Amino acid sequence: MRHFLKESDLSFDEIAAIFATAAALKAGRGRHTPPSLARQSWGLLFFKKSTRTRVSFQVGVHELGGQPVMLNADDMQLSRGETVSDTARVLSRYLHGMVIRCHDHQLLVDFAAQGSMPVVNALSDFLHPCQLMTDMFTLAERWAPGRPEAYAECLRGRKVAFLGDTACNMANSFILAGAILGVEVVLSGPKGYAPGREIQEQLRRDKLTPTYTFNEDPEAAVRGADMVYTDVWVSMGMEAEKAQRLKELDSYRVTPKLMSLAKPGAFFMHCLPAHPGEEVSQEVLSSPASIIFDQAENRLHVQKALLAHLAAARA
Ligand code: CP
Ligand code: NVA
Repeated sequence: MRHFLKESDLSFDEIAAIFATAAALKAGRGRHTPPSLARQSWGLLFFKKSTRTRVSFQVGVHELGGQPVMLNADDMQLSRGETVSDTARVLSRYLHGMVIRCHDHQLLVDFAAQGSMPVVNALSDFLHPCQLMTDMFTLAERWAPGRPEAYAECLRGRKVAFLGDTACNMANSFILAGAILGVEVVLSGPKGYAPGREIQEQLRRDKLTPTYTFNEDPEAAVRGADMVYTDVWVSMGMEAEKAQRLKELDSYRVTPKLMSLAKPGAFFMHCLPAHPGEEVSQEVLSSPASIIFDQAENRLHVQKALLAHLAAARA
C-alpha cells in the first residue's frame, strides 16, 4: 500500500511524473479530467484548522470523480478515546483513502499501518509535504515555463532561503524535499529555532544527503537566493509561546530590504495563512515577486495528481 506521509515516500522520478500530471490537470481543468477516483470515497480528517488544504482536497476528490467525506476530529469517537487502530480499521471498510491533518506525526504512521487504504499527510507537527510538493511545482512553472517534462529537473542546483521558525513543519519539509530534488536550502532563524534531531534522523533513515545549511544571519542567508520563503512564527499548537516567539523572531521578518539582497528576479513565497507585519511585510506580500496565490491555487492541481498517482499504485 502506497502512502504519502513524507516527501521521501516518493522518488525523484515519481515527483517528476506527478508534476507532469498536475500540469496537464491544470491545463485541462473544466474540460476533461480523467476520473481517477471514480466510485471511490475519500475521508478528509482534520484535527487542526485549515482553509486551503480542506477546500482544495474536497474539490480535488470531487473533480477526480470521487466523493469527499469531511470528518472533523471533534465529532468522531476518536475524541472520546476510541483508538487510532480501531478507527483506521473501521474507516478502511468504508473508504478508499484518507487525508489527515493532525498534531503528532505518529498518528499518521499508525493510521497507515493499521488501516488498509492509502493515507496522505495534510500537515503534521513534523511535515507538510503536500505544501512542499506544490511549492516546488509552482517554482518549476516559473523556471521551466511550458516544459512540464522538465519541472523536477529544473529545480536542481537552485538556492532557496527559508526565514523564521526553522524548526517548524515547513522548514523540515524543505530539508527533506531539498535533499530529494537537489535544491540548496539555507535556513535562517535564531539558534534556538534551528532544525531539530528528528529531521536529521529522517534524512539518515532515508539515506539522503543533506542539502541544507543553517545561518543565523538573515542577510547572509538570502544573498544570491532564487527564492525567499517564510511561514508563520506561531504554528498551530504553539499559541502559548506567541509573545516570546514574536520577540525572538523579530529580526527575521522578510522586508523589501531583505528581498533586495536575493538574486534579481527572486520570488517570494509563503504557504499561507500570512500574518502581515509579523513574519513578512505587507509590501513584500503584495510585491510583483510574490507568487503566494499561485501556490495556493496549485495545491488543487498537485494534490489531484498525487491522489491519482496513489489510486493508480493501488489498482
Ligand atoms: N497552507 C495551508 O496548508 O493552508 P491551510 O492551513 O489553510 O490549509
Ligand atoms: N507551520 C504552519 C503551517 C500552516 C500551513 C503551522 O503548522 O501552523
